[in-house]
Amino acid sequence: MNKFNLNKFLEKNNLSEDDKLFLLSIINDIYSHPEFQKRLDSKNYPHHSSISLGEHILNDAIVAYKIAKNKNYSYSNLKLIILIAMFHDLYEFPWQNSKIIKNKFQNLHGFTHPIEAAINAVTWFPEYFQNLEETKIIIDGIIHHMYPFPVRSLKNGFKETEINNLNKVNFLPSNIKQIIINSSCQNTFFKLSFSKSNSLEGKIVSKADRIVSLKEENLNFNSYKACITGKNPDLND
Ligand SMILES: [Fe+2]
Ligand SMILES: [Fe+2]
Repeated sequence: MNKFNLNKFLEKNNLSEDDKLFLLSIINDIYSHPEFQKRLDSKNYPHHSSISLGEHILNDAIVAYKIAKNKNYSYSNLKLIILIAMFHDLYEFPWQNSKIIKNKFQNLHGFTHPIEAAINAVTWFPEYFQNLEETKIIIDGIIHHMYPFPVRSLKNGFKETEINNLNKVNFLPSNIKQIIINSSCQNTFFKLSFSKSNSLEGKIVSKADRIVSLKEENLNFNSYKACITGKNPDLND
């Protein structure tokens, strides 16, 4: 059983009661999903160093919300920011010390995980992808969250990208598949897209992700090295 306590986690982050309730009203359904719960286990899903992927995602949602909340944004802006953060790293398998071999450099986890996250978000949470304009903003935010680090371009389709959830692509609505492809083809060089998110919401999540990631790596050399090599000797294999 997962022992993670969301209420205590939010309390630790110095949020007012109103902020806590606001965040909970948006994140709770996603947080409760079995695929999200699975990713709160730091043994099975260590993301940065030994911090779980789920905790990283929650940290990102909180920091993105804190950046945005005093800026006079509408409810819709704030909701989209929090949703992008909750979906941005929902990739398929743990990446540190992974046994999965990628044949092409451009298909390494760092370049392809935003695409996996977008596919999983649409597959597991279709209710958030009913409005076309919101869908474009959310997907573009997920796809380009790593900026200035590039993302794999889907110019030639999904097949050659060695993503770990290719089996789900055929079940995506065709217009959403096209939105993912279009977003990944902005500012392409070689097989990578060097583009910021087009939206204010996406840019804020990307900024929050950089802040949170640096903090979580905690200036740990092996942890930084793992971002390039994928191998982290500090974690038990
Ligand atoms: Fe990421
Ligand atoms: Fe992230």
